[in-house]
Amino acid sequence: MVTSCPQGLDPYRLPSHIAVIMDGNGRWARAKGLPRMMGHRAGVQALKSTLRNCSDWGINALTVYAFSTENWSRPVDEVNFLMTLFESVLEREIDSLEREHVRIRFLGDLEVLPGRLRDLISEATNKTIGNEGIHFNVCTNYGGRRELVLAAKRLAELSARGELDPSSIDENKFASQLLTAGEEDPDLLIRTSGERRISNFLLWQLAYSEIYVTDVLWPDFDESALLHALLDYQARCRRFGGLDPIENRSIGEKT
Ligand code: FPP
Repeated sequence: MVTSCPQGLDPYRLPSHIAVIMDGNGRWARAKGLPRMMGHRAGVQALKSTLRNCSDWGINALTVYAFSTENWSRPVDEVNFLMTLFESVLEREIDSLEREHVRIRFLGDLEVLPGRLRDLISEATNKTIGNEGIHFNVCTNYGGRRELVLAAKRLAELSARGELDPSSIDENKFASQLLTAGEEDPDLLIRTSGERRISNFLLWQLAYSEIYVTDVLWPDFDESALLHALLDYQARCRRFGGLDPIENRSIGEKT
């Protein structure tokens, strides 16, 4: 439900789908002399405010990187803390997500997550599946390469069973096997804490996304930081490999 769009932002040129790599929780905590876990707790508040603002300003989808397939290599205490944090946040927020018409989905290999978290994920997904507000996708135990391999495997299986003609495989058919099937590709990728990497996130889907990197650490990513990202996005000219519509000149190669 769109309630407001901040002054200076063109409501007709907002990204429809925003993806976020929420980075810098640990550094935020260290800078304050706090344990890393406090950074993750503060990160939850930044996520809540970002989701609320995106929903209020008319963004259709928000996809965040909460836990990567590589994050299992962190110390066991931190992994356990994150799993428990996901559980408590879901349990606490499930009703407000429902009230605010958010449709939440979890993308990744969910089978290996703790049983209680899996149950809460199923409950939240089922409860909000018919909601018509913002699509909130939480990438959990997600890896982009893994997602691509699984899509390729699935297409190979369908072909081997004679249910799919391999020569008919095109970009749309491939995308239909991804975890994001049915969702438009992100228009904008935001990465906090200054790192300039994609880190195995949405490798297929980010093909033409605008990338915005900010030095702001994730727990400090507030309304004004989101506004900055959106203003920066609106100042860009998206060409998708075509002509520059303003100067009407050939770009020569895909940009
Ligand atoms: C990256 O910061 C952050 C994470 C790996 C966890 C992100 C999770 C949250 C913000 C909580 C989300 C909650 C729900 C329910 C979806 P980092 O630890 O890599 O920071 P550093 O690079 O400074 O060490």
